[in-house]
Amino acid sequence: LDEVKRPTLVWLEYQDCAADTEALLRAEHPTVAELILDILSVDYHETVMAAAGFQAEEALAKVVKEQKGKYLAVVEGSIPLKDDGIYCCVAGRTAVDTAREVCGNALATIAVGTCASFGGLPAASPNPTGAVGVREAVPGATVLNLPGCPLNADNLTAAVVYFLTFGKLPATDDQGRPLFAYGKRIHDNCERRPHFDAGQYVERWGDDGHKVGYCLYKMGCKGPETFHNCPTQRFNQKTSWPVAAGHGCAGCSQPGFWDTMTPLYQR
Ligand code: SF4
Ligand code: F3S
Repeated sequence: LDEVKRPTLVWLEYQDCAADTEALLRAEHPTVAELILDILSVDYHETVMAAAGFQAEEALAKVVKEQKGKYLAVVEGSIPLKDDGIYCCVAGRTAVDTAREVCGNALATIAVGTCASFGGLPAASPNPTGAVGVREAVPGATVLNLPGCPLNADNLTAAVVYFLTFGKLPATDDQGRPLFAYGKRIHDNCERRPHFDAGQYVERWGDDGHKVGYCLYKMGCKGPETFHNCPTQRFNQKTSWPVAAGHGCAGCSQPGFWDTMTPLYQR
């Protein structure tokens, strides 16, 4: 039971901007210190681990060898498949090579952010590196998608705690996203929705409607097409979220949003 309660976690980073790591570092419920020191044993995370070079890679290899089928993997960033994956290499190995070994031997993998989930920005047309998400790069692996640009760290800790409590991943939608975080449309939970229903829209940035919180639909808000718990979970200790801050939702948790949700400021 102890093993199930305090599993080892390894965190891989590929074609990414490290924003999901940044989000993790600002997690509040629990804090990253509680997560790393009390709940999990994080044995590999390139960006924040003290070890470097051969020592770091040894730690990863040790986990894969000695804890096969028992550890959790987290992947941040997309994985390029074009030209045998040479566009993203870490420690002399391609991302796809490492991901197939590490995620293929993990108990489960959590793809954090839209790049790891669906390819994200690197996969935007014309997708020069052939970038894909973990599910596509590692067929057969057990993968939970937590998209977002970046993800909300509260959803990561909730998914990990769910896994530690019930010994399985939470129920998902057809995109592999947990229903507890992606089961509802942003538009249906938005605090500006009464203005949408009343036909009260922001028509120009900074106009009177913008100042009093009218609906951002005409400014390009993609809340009607996007599933995520941003309006209720919010960010930074529940301080705010994009629409509350006066900017429309960009649809960042939807597959292919860089191609399907642009231009961001037009409907
Ligand atoms: Fe919907 Fe966006 Fe308007 Fe909110 S601001 S009601 S999500 S269109
Ligand atoms: Fe992304 Fe829209 Fe939420 S842009 S962070 S899904 S409000």
